[in-house]
Amino acid sequence: MLTTPPRTFVSVPFFFLLFFSLPLSSLSQPSPSSSNSVYNSFLKCFSEKTKSPQSQITDNVFSQSNPSFSSVLRAYIRNARFNTSSTPKPTIIITPRSESHVSAAVTCSKTLNFLLKIRSGGHDYDGLSYISDKPFFILDLSNIRDVSVDIASNSAWLSAGATLGEVYYRIWEKSKVHGFPAGVCPTVGVGGHLSGGGYGNMLRKFGLSVDYVEDAKIVDVNGRVLDRKSMGEDLFWAITGGGGGSYGVVLGYKVKLVPVPPIVTVFRVEQYMDSGAVDMVYKWQSVGPKTDRNLFMRMLIQPVTRKKVKTVRASVVALFLGRADEVVALLRKEFPELGLKKENCTEMTWFQSALWWDNRVNATQVDPKVFLDRNLDTASFGKRKSDYVATAIPRNGIESLFKKMIELGKIGLVFNPYGGKMAEVAVNATPFPHRNKLFKIQYSVNWKENSAEIEKGYLNQAKVLYSFMTGFVSKNPRSAYFNYRDVDIGVNDHGVNSYKEGEVYGRKYFGENFDRLVKIKTAVDPGNFFRNEQSIPTLKNAKETLLPEPGKAKRWSRAGGATVVATVVLHVF
Ligand code: FDA
Repeated sequence: MLTTPPRTFVSVPFFFLLFFSLPLSSLSQPSPSSSNSVYNSFLKCFSEKTKSPQSQITDNVFSQSNPSFSSVLRAYIRNARFNTSSTPKPTIIITPRSESHVSAAVTCSKTLNFLLKIRSGGHDYDGLSYISDKPFFILDLSNIRDVSVDIASNSAWLSAGATLGEVYYRIWEKSKVHGFPAGVCPTVGVGGHLSGGGYGNMLRKFGLSVDYVEDAKIVDVNGRVLDRKSMGEDLFWAITGGGGGSYGVVLGYKVKLVPVPPIVTVFRVEQYMDSGAVDMVYKWQSVGPKTDRNLFMRMLIQPVTRKKVKTVRASVVALFLGRADEVVALLRKEFPELGLKKENCTEMTWFQSALWWDNRVNATQVDPKVFLDRNLDTASFGKRKSDYVATAIPRNGIESLFKKMIELGKIGLVFNPYGGKMAEVAVNATPFPHRNKLFKIQYSVNWKENSAEIEKGYLNQAKVLYSFMTGFVSKNPRSAYFNYRDVDIGVNDHGVNSYKEGEVYGRKYFGENFDRLVKIKTAVDPGNFFRNEQSIPTLKNAKETLLPEPGKAKRWSRAGGATVVATVVLHVF
């Protein structure tokens, strides 16, 4: 992202006008004939590298003319904003079935000089794993999905293309008192989730998913398959929270399991603005991050219409790693504003609590196998942003926030409490730096209508609320959670300003750990083959970009139903 230099003007050269007069598809996608020749060259290379006859690999390499291309592409698009006819499409999709396939895909993409987007579960909120404004391939790891659990050694191997639901199910098959601390959405992929940190409703007790990674396998820029020993501690550190997509293709992680009690408790309590919600949210800030670490109380804040009146609903959704009586007694003392009663609580197994958190209210009756269902090609439209809070928001701040949310009408907030184990892990133990914060905020808006106008309105609500929160959240830098991808906080076109652009979003996501991530990136991928709109830049251009220079900044937006890339060329005087 460019910061605006003191004296700039925006010029509109001829090619720029030409750029806007062309449909995006003609810029980002090769013509059908060149697309076919790229496909043939790729297939030849892939066949040679994997030592497989071409007839055996056509099921794993899809050109745009393949009848299955569309369904393979759409299967793991998890945000409908990037599932339109005008969304740029990859020239080829590769769906490897083995390490050697992944290795060949990297080498052949490099040889053909194509950008390679890596996709595991496809949950990137801004679609960075499957869209680009440049010609690109998708490496889709959904077939690399083995999960093997070994209770004797208290560990599991999680392949990158496995989903969290599959991980929880495979653990549950073997033990009712083991679990793994990771996200609450069962279709999230291991590859993106763990490489970007990974948190769930046990984070106050156990920390992040990456705090439990013991080993990993990655295919590097030279196509080599490396484990922790052969990749070395620096690269291993980088891919446990710094985002795999900057460093290589993660094949999977070996993780430690954690102990969970045979019975846990879940509850949900709601209050409205006119009946205690302000007090509840205010008090939550001092209880949620400090209470017993077995208790995780998420706060959802949503503008709603109730009895024809616009108001705000605050809901506490909780997991307690213990029995109902215990948590009711605890919160009667610490958090009377919540008014928790035993009848609000349901006791169940840890696995059932994962189903309950996935909005299955009758979790104790649900077939566990639902977590093996990948729900392909199902997504609503959505936008997320994030923030961190280090000092409690004053009571009048909560009141003004509620009013603002009513005024905006749709966008909601999710507060996730930290404390407990989170605060005990050093900020540089993994690339994830936000260990000492009180809580994280997620800005969340989903919608169903496929309309550029409606999209614009909701994206604007997200921006307005984010701006409104400035005085209440972390500063210098304003922080963000890497796994809540948000291109509004900066993007990189990997030109001469790459380092400077990378620093803008990189410091927000990684704080001081950004410097180490850049050094590691420079050492392992100096040519910056593994890149995306928010990847870690190399140090190569750091010096020359200290001064503002001409450059380009890109943004995805939709106008009139078409996805366009807005490019602004800045000249400095
Ligand atoms: P996807 O395949 O889109 O990849 C995300 C990013 O990682 C991309 O940049 C991609 O290139 C890169 N990547 C993916 N696989 C890779 C690999 N094998 N090697 C190298 N790079 C790879 N988060 C959280 O911490 N806790 C939560 O509870 C939730 N809940 C949640 C719910 C829903 C509905 C969504 C959409 C998202 C979340 N998230 C979340 C955020 C989630 O953790 C984040 O989007 C992950 O990056 C998703 O990983 P996927 O593999 O599914 O995404």
